Amino acid sequence: MSTQIRLPVAVGFTGLMTAYNRAVESARPDALFTDPLAARFVEVAGDTTLAGLPRLGPAAEDGSSELWTGMNGYLAGRTVFYDRAIQAATAREHGPRQVVLLGAGLDTRAFRLALPAGTVLYEVDTAEVHEFKSAVLAGHLPSTPRIPVPVDLREDWPRALRRAGFNPAWPTVWVAEGLLMYFPEAAADTLLDTVTEQTTPGSTLLTEYMSRRPRMTDAVLADPQDHALCELLVGNTVGGPDPDPATWLAEHGWTGGHLDLLDQLTELGRPHPTLFDRSIPEPLRVHLISGRH
Ligand SMILES: C[S@@+](CC[C@H](N)C(=O)[O-])C[C@H]1O[C@@H](n2cnc3c(N)ncnc32)[C@H](O)[C@@H]1O
Repeated sequence: MSTQIRLPVAVGFTGLMTAYNRAVESARPDALFTDPLAARFVEVAGDTTLAGLPRLGPAAEDGSSELWTGMNGYLAGRTVFYDRAIQAATAREHGPRQVVLLGAGLDTRAFRLALPAGTVLYEVDTAEVHEFKSAVLAGHLPSTPRIPVPVDLREDWPRALRRAGFNPAWPTVWVAEGLLMYFPEAAADTLLDTVTEQTTPGSTLLTEYMSRRPRMTDAVLADPQDHALCELLVGNTVGGPDPDPATWLAEHGWTGGHLDLLDQLTELGRPHPTLFDRSIPEPLRVHLISGRH
């Protein structure tokens, strides 16, 4: 790793973990999508343990890590859901031409999705994540214009977004992928209220949350680095909304529903993590949510 490039830490590290999983998916012969830049982020990050962070990837590439195998399925299935839904929303007649990625992390949809001409992607994340991302992406040209908006979502982010060129009077595709689990329930409510205030009819909201918090006891992790990553994830996962998705959307002025990630994985012909299995006590359900306003 270059000494000039600092890795994002804490919740910012989850963006790097997402990129790792997208890189792994992209390398499969039956890849559900290809994200060539994901491997670049991983390459630049190098040995993350040198920076005191958990190792990216399992100790052995033989499918024996319950944590990484489960996460690969989770993140690949989820990425397909968002890819398809963003493409469908922007393909509608007079569909939105603004896409706002809340907690954009190392998302490279500006480079890899063919979106209609005139579409702009606003990428909202912390300054430290943007610093790392900009350093790695230097010299790469997106196919859809992308505008980094470095701001914390607990601050006055609508102001920063408007200053970056976003127009609340135009329809928008709001994307909060892999984000709400890092927000306590009240903060998730505030976030959606704020989104709603910046939303005009014809807009779409795409997000996800879990039916319960993950626990350290959800998987047996013999490898100390798997254990360290799980601690980081479980420690930062504070909840997200509690009601079922249709109710939560309605409470905030949206209509819509959800797809269970387990069903998405089944439709894609991919195995699901044991943790999702409906036959176990208290399975973890991941709700992939689409709302309309
Ligand atoms: C799991 S990553 C997902 C990234 C991206 N959506 C993707 O799918 O590639 C979560 C991202 O949310 C960002 N995030 C979490 N809390 C945030 C906050 N309060 N303000 C801004 N960004 C935040 C993190 O920095 C991280 O990049």
